[in-house]
Amino acid sequence: MQWTALFCHPLWVVSTAVLAMVVRLQRRGRWDPRACPVQLKGKTAIVTGANTGIGKCIALDFARRGARVILACRSESRGLAAVKEIRDKTGNPDVHLRLLDLTSLDSVREFAKKIMEEEPALHILVNNAAISGFPRQITKDGLDATFATNHLGPFLLTNLLLDLLKRSVLARIVSVSTINHWKGVVDFSHFHGENLKYGWDQAYNHSKLHNIICTNELARRLQGTDVTANSVHPGVVLTDVMRYYPSMVRFLFNTIGILFFKSANEGSFSPIYCAVAEEMVGITGKYIDSDCSLSLPAPLARDPALAVKDFEICERLTSKL
Ligand SMILES: *[C@@H]1O[C@H](CO)[C@@H](O)[C@H](O)[C@H]1NC(C)=O
Repeated sequence: MQWTALFCHPLWVVSTAVLAMVVRLQRRGRWDPRACPVQLKGKTAIVTGANTGIGKCIALDFARRGARVILACRSESRGLAAVKEIRDKTGNPDVHLRLLDLTSLDSVREFAKKIMEEEPALHILVNNAAISGFPRQITKDGLDATFATNHLGPFLLTNLLLDLLKRSVLARIVSVSTINHWKGVVDFSHFHGENLKYGWDQAYNHSKLHNIICTNELARRLQGTDVTANSVHPGVVLTDVMRYYPSMVRFLFNTIGILFFKSANEGSFSPIYCAVAEEMVGITGKYIDSDCSLSLPAPLARDPALAVKDFEICERLTSKL
């Protein structure tokens, strides 16, 4: 049997190409940021994990609209490279790097303190940074590294910046979650790295469920203010979030993904929609799908009592004792 001949058969090639085209056509979003005229001159935005992937595309879009954009990144060299690229592409010099390591609560506090001192306003906060497939590692705060990066770090960051957001008219908080949250469960011992399986996306899936739960509770607490908070699914996107996956898995994702997954640019559409679109003015506590439509998250993300409890536990875990 000639395997190469079998796989290279024209029928395979043609049918795969047709299937990929159908998938691509189907997922074409209803909303396109390039057709959205909203300008952000005079507005300040923070995007975490903005040196690569979806985060970089979001920051680029905000810079095009004239915003003052702060890239919150862990790596100075990669962060500065992204700043330069975005400045060059948009001609907007008001793009800056501030170092932030979400695995460390101290780093989050230091970052937030600096922002509060330097920035008179903050209109958009996009919590985008995340890791997946990270091995078990307990941070010096006693937290699981994946949960710290994907949930507790952004949770603390958002809370520390709330006063600034409240002072900035029509501020929006966008939490980049994922459809994977449907596979997540809530077990508070996870925060300490207990009862977790490592090696792939389990901890990621759980942490992304907590993103939505706490964003909803935050939205409830913010009622009566001008600040909105929503969660979003960017789509299945090929990005560095998979950098800790086994190389075979990454290879598979990369080959299949070129045909079927969204690009990082397409993945940035729904977060940008939440952050800038007129349609989202006054909308809060919602989950937005990758095609920029209102969608229902998993039942666990719609349980108000669970949300109150989760939020309080996260507050306790991130407070300075
Ligand atoms: C995480 O979510 C993805 C997408 O829903 C799913 O394919 C995967 O099996 C989940 N992982 C675990 C360990 O539940």
